[in-house]
Amino acid sequence: MSATLISGKEISQEIREEIRQRVAELKRARGLTPGLATVLVGDDPASHMYVGMKNKAAKEAGLHSEQITLPGSTPQDELLGLIAGLNANPEIHGILVQLPLPDHIDDQAVLVAIDPDKDVDGFHPVNVGRLSTGDPDVLAPCTPLGVIEMLVRSGYDPEGRHAVVVGRSNIVGRPMASLLLRKGRGGNATVTVAHSRTRDLGAVTRLADILVVAMGRPETITADMVKPGAVVIDVGTNRVDDPTRERGYRVVGDVAFDEVKEVAEAISPVPGGVGPMTIAMLLSNTVDAAVRMADRMEGAGAGA
Ligand code: GUN
Repeated sequence: MSATLISGKEISQEIREEIRQRVAELKRARGLTPGLATVLVGDDPASHMYVGMKNKAAKEAGLHSEQITLPGSTPQDELLGLIAGLNANPEIHGILVQLPLPDHIDDQAVLVAIDPDKDVDGFHPVNVGRLSTGDPDVLAPCTPLGVIEMLVRSGYDPEGRHAVVVGRSNIVGRPMASLLLRKGRGGNATVTVAHSRTRDLGAVTRLADILVVAMGRPETITADMVKPGAVVIDVGTNRVDDPTRERGYRVVGDVAFDEVKEVAEAISPVPGGVGPMTIAMLLSNTVDAAVRMADRMEGAGAGA
């Protein structure tokens, strides 16, 4: 039997429409327009495409959106100065610096320079720490947040289930595990984290009721590694050579989709799975950041 498809494409459209309505209401009722600034350094084509998509989506949802593009030779101090300006800019509630940065720039020095209240990527160590301690109100990384929304909105609430996360990156694996473990909506799972050094990976992944794969290796999770009836979310995006395609490659996930769909109860495709969710959750984080900032300003005003 073939698995139910969990379409991130459809779920992300639903979320983006909800955000559009929420933004319209914030403008009408509070005169608040959430603002996002994206910063791109260098000319990596994939990064240009991603940042362009993020800006377009922000504008479509009614957000104020600024894209700042800097040459690859930009000195680190200049980038830090730009971030300081965005931190102080009241029109900007969310700041995203696209990674990877050029080699001469220290990623961590840049990420810690972003005001944690505007850190819509959830990469600042303060936010990483807050998420690891189970804070329900923290800005959390967009890709794992998107996975949680896909699970909940398609009826596969992780509560009480055994979730196995494959991958331990700071962008996906680690925050994914923290979100699944956290008390509250989309959490309360029993969580195991596996990775490239795990012995007998299949023995671990076969324990999963919910299997989230973010290892960055094409079609590595095969049908024999999946428990019948499991829910499988594939975060991988890998290019593999394909001479039958005009462009010479195709995009595949970390899961061997065609065979795993015959074993799983539900599965997300690649493309059209987790990818579009990341952008939707970036917009969601930006609106949340704006509302929290406006609430704090009003609270401070009322108390003065
Ligand atoms: N590069 C790849 N994924 C991401 C992401 O989620 N945020 C940022 N800022 N850069 C990325």
